[in-house]
Amino acid sequence: MTAYDDLDQLETAEETPALDALLVAVYDRYHYDFRDYARGSLHRRLRTAMVRLDIPSIDEMRRRVTEEPVLFSQLLAYLTVQLSELFRDPPFFKTFREQVVPVLRTYASRKLWVAGCSTGEEAYSFAILLREEGLLERTQIYATDIFEKSLRVAEAGIYDLDRMRLFTQNYLAAGGTGSLAEYYATTTTGGAVFDRALRDRIVFADHSLTTDSVFAEMHAVSCRNVLIYFTKPLQDRVLGLFRDSLVRTGFLGLGPRESLDLSPVRDVFAPMPDRWYQKRAPGLKELR
Ligand SMILES: C[S@@+](CC[C@H](N)C(=O)[O-])C[C@H]1O[C@@H](n2cnc3c(N)ncnc32)[C@H](O)[C@@H]1O
Repeated sequence: MTAYDDLDQLETAEETPALDALLVAVYDRYHYDFRDYARGSLHRRLRTAMVRLDIPSIDEMRRRVTEEPVLFSQLLAYLTVQLSELFRDPPFFKTFREQVVPVLRTYASRKLWVAGCSTGEEAYSFAILLREEGLLERTQIYATDIFEKSLRVAEAGIYDLDRMRLFTQNYLAAGGTGSLAEYYATTTTGGAVFDRALRDRIVFADHSLTTDSVFAEMHAVSCRNVLIYFTKPLQDRVLGLFRDSLVRTGFLGLGPRESLDLSPVRDVFAPMPDRWYQKRAPGLKELR
């Protein structure tokens, strides 16, 4: 057993400067900025990477990662969490359908940003829901992430068939009006490939919430299960980006363990059920 086999061990005083130096080296060399990520989970994921990649110390990881881009992309897979599901947390999507869609319907066209989209399930969920509500044709969905490999999976829109059972349950619990099976075909290799017409309304793109800025004016932003991995200052920066990106009375959706409660933008938004928020229009009554 090595010092790194106990994955839950907290960061030690000796590790702190080594981890700081690793994060600076990663930023300098690759422009990925993990310096303001929540330290406990980042440290735990680094330890997992070190065991799996057989690298005995953080200093050694820094030295090798700086010289080996392939190792860096392997490390990136550990430092980011890529878990996602179609219609994950169904009440969130039900509230979107029942309370956000009626307002989106009042616009001639709309833009939706899924920030931290991982392998694309969240973006496809919105596309399916908007298609059922008759709004997909005039909606552009932007789905962004820092992890290139996941963006490629998202672009392909192919998921394991054995996940379809859970996805179908979620879809129905989220108020799906048809059958999820209408939206995918089975591939010869045991996958479920989602309808290209859904894919055509989504732009998948590389965008970092830590280092990039706002790129378009949005009617809704969904950023779920991403802020939990950030420190409070970084969360505040990102929430500021969403505030700036949203139109007056635009909507922001967060994950079940995320909220605006302690955020400086808290008063800019009115809370709605299931982690939805609506940007307040100064001097105007909310559109609900
Ligand atoms: C747990 S997944 C969430 C996926 C999806 N939003 C959901 O809730 O099912 C977190 C995602 O955030 C992405 N992420 C982490 N840091 C990011 C950053 N700085 N900018 C954009 N995306 C980031 C990760 O690559 C990962 O795909």
